[in-house]
Amino acid sequence: MPIRRRVFFRERSEILATSGESISSKEPMVFRMERPYVILGVSASLDGRISLGPGRTLMDLDQRDDVLGTREEWEDFYGKLNDRHHPEVWMEGSGMLVKEGAELRELEPFKGDAKVLYEDFLPPDILNKPGRTGWLVAVDGRGRLRSGYTGEEDKPMLHLASHSVPPEYLWFLREKGIPYLLAGEERVDLELALKKMKEKLGAKNVLTSSGGKLAGALLKKGLLDEVYIRFNPVVIGGFETPVLFASPDLGEDEWPVFLQHMDTKVCWDGHIFTRFKVVRD
Ligand SMILES: NC(=O)c1ccc[n+]([C@@H]2O[C@H](COP(=O)([O-])OP(=O)(O)OC[C@H]3O[C@@H](n4cnc5c(N)ncnc54)[C@H](OP(=O)(O)O)[C@@H]3O)[C@@H](O)[C@H]2O)c1
Repeated sequence: MPIRRRVFFRERSEILATSGESISSKEPMVFRMERPYVILGVSASLDGRISLGPGRTLMDLDQRDDVLGTREEWEDFYGKLNDRHHPEVWMEGSGMLVKEGAELRELEPFKGDAKVLYEDFLPPDILNKPGRTGWLVAVDGRGRLRSGYTGEEDKPMLHLASHSVPPEYLWFLREKGIPYLLAGEERVDLELALKKMKEKLGAKNVLTSSGGKLAGALLKKGLLDEVYIRFNPVVIGGFETPVLFASPDLGEDEWPVFLQHMDTKVCWDGHIFTRFKVVRD
């Protein structure tokens, strides 16, 4: 373990011996970053699975999914995170909304100079909409989210796309009045996208309940700051079932990402709420 990390853990263990934080306590957050503060809130089985099986989107949920949280339990969990962090952006990955390999809705071809489409689309009437409290943001680097969902009354939908998406997708979003920000060539450059959200949307806090691939990518790129996990007393198993953090295997010289424990609450029924901060290099 690098010396810096060893020192950090020694100091931290001394602090922890005297600390007793809780999920509902307010904590001043002092940080000066070019990007927003990014918080992950997810629900997992004891073996770290976040879904009952591979390729299950929101549309596939059934009664069994309650083992990861009933509607009321989700509302309570995110309600607390909302009260604590006041996120302006609620961000999801595309894996929650569209299956890998799913047939995509065909869109009207765009007839015109496509160059104009490859610029951020942030109509002032949506940006300055009275009563708007935040944004629902979907990472959609390949242009697969084509439902035309425009979000909630107070939280409009916004897509994060890469420059690899076809023009008809961007035209479709414009026609539907769905704002988008472009970042990255082949897939979304997550760091640039976060910076843009701070600069253009004024986002200081981003809450993501993303699937494991997005969470893994954010964590590996040093773009995740805080992690809340609700562990449920079940084991789901599976070789392909989505896990909390999915990313390429660790290289021979690579170190795991270190996290600092902040708080854990064990409930009478076996649910464990735990909170960690990601250790910065
Ligand atoms: N229990 C829970 O709390 C919880 C929460 C959320 C989701 N889920 C479940 O988790 C499952 C989905 O998880 P998943 O892991 O399969 O998918 P996911 O994380 O939802 O989707 C992958 C997303 O990450 C993006 N991505 C991945 N690596 C990237 C990188 N290196 N750079 C930029 N973008 C990157 C992908 O972009 P592209 O669009 O370009 O592919 C895509 O948007 C679903 O079953 C869902 O229901 C559970």
